[in-house]
Amino acid sequence: MCSPKIFNPACPAEEDSKPVLGPAQPLHTPTPSQTRLDSGEVTPGLSQMEYALRRHKLMALIQKEAHGWDGLDHTVILLSNPTYYMTNDIPYVFHQDTNFLYLCGFQEPDSILVLQSIPGKALPSHKSMLFVPRRDPCRELWDGPRSGTDGAIALTGVDEAYTIEEFRHLVAKLKGESNIVWYDLTKPVHTKLHSDYMQPLAEIKSQNKNHIQGIRHLVQNLRLIKSPAEIERMKIAGRVTAEAFTETMFASKSPVDEAFLYAKFEFECRARGADILAYPPVVAGGNRSNTLHYVKNNQLIKDGELVLLDGGCEFSCYVSDITRTWPVNGRFTKPQAELYQAVLDIQKSCLSLCSPGVSLENIYSLMLSLIGQKLKELGVLKSSITESHFFKAVRKYCPHHVGHYLGMDVHDTPDISRSLLLQPGMVITIEPGIYIPEDDMSAPERFRGIGVRIEDDVVITEDVPLILSADCPKEIYHIEQICGRSS
Ligand code: GLY
Ligand code: MN
Ligand code: MN
Repeated sequence: MCSPKIFNPACPAEEDSKPVLGPAQPLHTPTPSQTRLDSGEVTPGLSQMEYALRRHKLMALIQKEAHGWDGLDHTVILLSNPTYYMTNDIPYVFHQDTNFLYLCGFQEPDSILVLQSIPGKALPSHKSMLFVPRRDPCRELWDGPRSGTDGAIALTGVDEAYTIEEFRHLVAKLKGESNIVWYDLTKPVHTKLHSDYMQPLAEIKSQNKNHIQGIRHLVQNLRLIKSPAEIERMKIAGRVTAEAFTETMFASKSPVDEAFLYAKFEFECRARGADILAYPPVVAGGNRSNTLHYVKNNQLIKDGELVLLDGGCEFSCYVSDITRTWPVNGRFTKPQAELYQAVLDIQKSCLSLCSPGVSLENIYSLMLSLIGQKLKELGVLKSSITESHFFKAVRKYCPHHVGHYLGMDVHDTPDISRSLLLQPGMVITIEPGIYIPEDDMSAPERFRGIGVRIEDDVVITEDVPLILSADCPKEIYHIEQICGRSS
């Protein structure tokens, strides 16, 4: 393809005043970057009202934290992601920063969301503004249509929108002393917008202690508890992924390339409407399943070996994260079945603990005890092992945690402690595993080279937990039935 720098057609004049949404169109017609939208939606399944409520709740949290700064104005600033490039002029598929996306649903790069208190009015009253790339037919020829300022307002329902260049006027105002800026100085998501605007602002503000406050932890607190509309999105992501797993198991044969199973899984997710995979999946045959972050996925899986597939998809901004382990030839060997059943029993015990008032740390403690017990029963650990060596030995065979929060990101709300008690509306994963590398001479020979993990996605409710990945086979008889079906 030509480079835009080389191929420079006569560009029509810039037309920032011309909205993507023509005046004859209803307000909620999707912009070209936002497909599959119903009336009033900003992203599929999520309305302008839902996004406005999130902003309102954020400002209410700020109101709570703002004691001592009475009379000062408050301004929240969140940057979007930039476009990243794989090589000269060739972009990766754009993916929005999830905190920015959570608060406005705007799916374009190089944008800024601002929430500002209104002078004379108490928080959580505020004004919402988007600063967005100006319409530019020259760039749009290459990158596709932009919403522009009018399109951004029509789509998202924010109060005002400006071009990104106009952000400097706001920065100039914020350099005054009578306001608090809520912005994350650590790990800025957009390096250029940060260095052009926010770094200079921060340098001035740093002379006034406390006049720049982090915002990420407040947004994560909101994201932790999913709304009914979010749970609906996650149900779809879970169902689609479960179906993709079933199809991938069904297509397994021996020998088979990891790359084939990877491609099959991605195809089945995307054919059902998933936007992308949520993360590079692990498709690990045989002993490679003992490498926790194995993502090369390029080796041959031999007859008699298991495959561990840890994969998930993103479906309209929400993700799934499921792991299954199965024999590529359709039949578990005896040692494989023993180890698999042990992990399955542990996983079910952990799932039964997923209720309000219990924390992920509590479930992790239970998981470690149960793994230790099973490893003794299987003869991997000596029954005489002392208590002081017990947990160290267990962590050798399962070096990871029992799970994490799940939502727009696979490792969602990562700054929220796993010691927090679970509450209805939280979504977590439960993913115990036992990994016995082939060179572990202390383990019985029949188990060496086997790694098993089983991972489900779980919504905490007042009642029994809702398993989003419940359609994904995990009983031995069910897996063997699916893998053994002739196509
Ligand atoms: N797929 C990453 C994880 O399970 O945490
Ligand atoms: Mn996980
Ligand atoms: Mn996973």
